[in-house]
Amino acid sequence: MAIFHPEKIPTHVAIIMDGNGRWAKRRGMPRVMGHRQGVKAVRSTVRTARELGIPVLTLYAFSQENWKRPVDEVNTLMNLLYDYLKSELDEMLGNQISLRAIGELDRLPDRVRQVLAETIEKTSSNKKMILNLALSYGSRQEIVVAARKIAEGCLKGTIDPKNINQELFSSFLYTAGLPDPDLIIRTSGEMRLSNFLLFQSAYSEFYITPSHWPDFDRKEFLEAIHQFQKRERRFGQTSEQIGGQCTARGC
Ligand code: IPE
Ligand code: IPE
Ligand code: MG
Repeated sequence: MAIFHPEKIPTHVAIIMDGNGRWAKRRGMPRVMGHRQGVKAVRSTVRTARELGIPVLTLYAFSQENWKRPVDEVNTLMNLLYDYLKSELDEMLGNQISLRAIGELDRLPDRVRQVLAETIEKTSSNKKMILNLALSYGSRQEIVVAARKIAEGCLKGTIDPKNINQELFSSFLYTAGLPDPDLIIRTSGEMRLSNFLLFQSAYSEFYITPSHWPDFDRKEFLEAIHQFQKRERRFGQTSEQIGGQCTARGC
């Protein structure tokens, strides 16, 4: 069983929820069933994050590239998102969870956008955890849009090019005001970011599990946190500088 260090709970955990299709295929079911089962894993993960006292949980639910999937699958995902938002409001209010969303939200169907805006508004004063959904999200586009907005500010004279630094740049990203992710979890074994938080993940720790997203349960989540807590984050410095315990035989 994992041993926890409450003082080393990550401030921001971001999850690439991958493998719904493979989960279903393995069972001879249509991909849709995997997405449906995936919603259950979302519920359990949000609860566990809240229970562990993780301040920010970002879930990569739909990428910009996912719009290229068959229209039926996209529609199913949008319906599941709508139902999820409708059904979770009470739990979010009860558990002091504030909802936020990052991505090109304009592309979402009207009714999804509406329930999203309502839920964000109704949960905005909740203080215990931020549940941040990445929807129609693409990190390259996020970076390009930030660059465009900064360029416009320079032309209008509201931004002095001399003042463009990492902090200012971050404030133009969708994730403005959120800490960078300490831990990025990806299910289903793929070793890639798939256009997720490219700027923000500069020093994130990665945890990749072969389990498909619908199988990602409390135990798996605790194991990911346990592994994270064993990592030595050096941020470019030496182990000695950061007071690490590393020796020739390991850490
Ligand atoms: C993740 O599962 C859900 C979304 C990307 C929306 P996938 O649908 O990508 O499942 P696989 O990768 O095809 O198994
Ligand atoms: C990444 O999964 C996006 C989400 C989990 C929402 P994909 O299944 O879209 O990623 P690729 O295509 O395998 O890189
Ligand atoms: Mg996938």
